[in-house]
Amino acid sequence: MLKIALDESHLASFCDAQTLRHMEKETLSARETLVDGSGEGNDFTGWVNLPVDYDKEEFARIKAAAAKIRSQSQVLVVIGIGGSYLGARAAIEFLRPGFGCGSGSDLEVLYAGNQLSTAYTNYLINHIGGRDFSVNVISKSGTTTEPAIAFRVFKDLLEEKYGKAGAADRIYATTDKARGALKTLADAEGYETFVVPDDIGGRYSVLTAVGLLPIAAAGCDIDALMRGAQAAREAMLGEGFESNMAMRYAALRNCFYRGGKKVEILANYDPSLHYIAEWWKQLYGESEGKDKMGIFPASVDLTTDLHSMGQYIQDGERMLMETVIDLKDESAPIVIREEEGDLDGLNYLAGKPLTFVNESAMKGTILAHTEGGVPNLVITLADRSEETLGQLFYFFEFACGVSGYMLGVNPFNQPGVESYKKNMFMLLGKPGYTK
Ligand code: PA5
Repeated sequence: MLKIALDESHLASFCDAQTLRHMEKETLSARETLVDGSGEGNDFTGWVNLPVDYDKEEFARIKAAAAKIRSQSQVLVVIGIGGSYLGARAAIEFLRPGFGCGSGSDLEVLYAGNQLSTAYTNYLINHIGGRDFSVNVISKSGTTTEPAIAFRVFKDLLEEKYGKAGAADRIYATTDKARGALKTLADAEGYETFVVPDDIGGRYSVLTAVGLLPIAAAGCDIDALMRGAQAAREAMLGEGFESNMAMRYAALRNCFYRGGKKVEILANYDPSLHYIAEWWKQLYGESEGKDKMGIFPASVDLTTDLHSMGQYIQDGERMLMETVIDLKDESAPIVIREEEGDLDGLNYLAGKPLTFVNESAMKGTILAHTEGGVPNLVITLADRSEETLGQLFYFFEFACGVSGYMLGVNPFNQPGVESYKKNMFMLLGKPGYTK
C-alpha cells in the first residue's frame, strides 16, 4: 500500500474521462518502452530497477561513511550542482526541516559548488567558522566548473586545518567509477570514493550514492528510503492504467499540454517541500524541454506566493496547469487561542489548529484556481518519512520517463546544457575553446 496518492477530483473539464481513456494505450506503450529499454536514451534507464538492484556492498559503505562523518564533524559541505546535489538537498530539507541543523540532526549540511558567487562562498566559510567539517564532492563527469572550483577552495581549507592526510580522511568523492578528473584526483589523494552508475543520469541519481551519502550523513534512514522506492517501483511497474498513479499523472499532464497548458506549476503548502520542487523542476525540465517542445516546470511556495504570484495564476494567461503536493502535517499542533476584545478579529478561529487554516487555504485555492481555468492535480503524502519520500522520488522519476516518451522526446539526455558552457569556457580562456 503506497503512502502517496493522486487526487484527480479537480480537473474540471480540462481532461474528460473519455479523452483519458483514449490515452491509455499510448501511456501503456510509453511504459513498455521505458521498462523494456527499447526507447531513445535506453542506456540511461538504470534507475528503473535501482531500488531492487543496487550495490549492497557500497550501500553498507555509505552507511559507515555517514557514521564516520557524524562522529568527526559538525558540518558536512556537499559540493555539487544540478542532479549532483538537488536530490540530497530536497530529501534533507524535507526530512530534517528546521533552522540550522534541523530537528533531530546534530550535523549541519551546507551546500557549495551550485553557483559561482564569491559572496556566498565567503559567507559559507564564515558560517562554518572553527567547527570541524567534512566534504562530499559529487560530480559524475568530474569536470563541472562550479563544483570543481568549490572543491579546490574547500580542499585547501581542509588541508590548512587538518594537514594533507587529515583532509583526505574527511573528503568523500562521488563520481564515475573509472573516468574523469575527480576520479583521478581521488585515487591520487586516497579519498574514499562512491560511484555514480554509468546507466543513471544526474537528475535520476538521488537513490544512488549521489543522494544517499549526504542523506544518511544528515541522520536519515536510507533503508526506509529504499524500501519506499521499492514499493513504488512495484506499483508503477505492476499496476494497470486505472490505478497506476505514475501513468495517470503522465497521461493527464500530456492531456493538459495538448489542450494548451504549456506550464506546470508544482505548488506546496509547507516550506520543507521547496527543494522537492527544485529537484522536480530539473527532472522534468531537463527531461522534456527539448526539440522545441515540453511543459515548462515552475513552482510556487504557498500560501507565501499567493501574495505575489496568486494574481497571475488566477487571472493571467490561461496556459497553466497546477500540481499540488499536500503533506499531512503531523507536527505538534499550534492552536489559535481566544483573545479578549478580539481586536485583530481572529476569535472566529479560536480553538482551531493552524493546520486547519493551512488546509482551508489549500482547499480554497485549489477551488479558485480550477474555476479560474487552471486544472489541478493533488499528490497527497501521508506523512513526513523516508518511506514516503522514497515513493515520491520514484513516482516522479517513473512518471517523467513515461511522460517524456509520450511527448516524443528522449527523456534522458540534456544537449541544451552544453551551450552556455562553450561560451563561458571561451570567455574564461579555457584551452581548446576559441571564438
Ligand atoms: O542531470 C544532469 O545531468 C545535470 O544536472 C548534472 O547532474 C549536472 O550538470 C552536474 O554534472 P556533474 O555531476 O557531471 O558534475
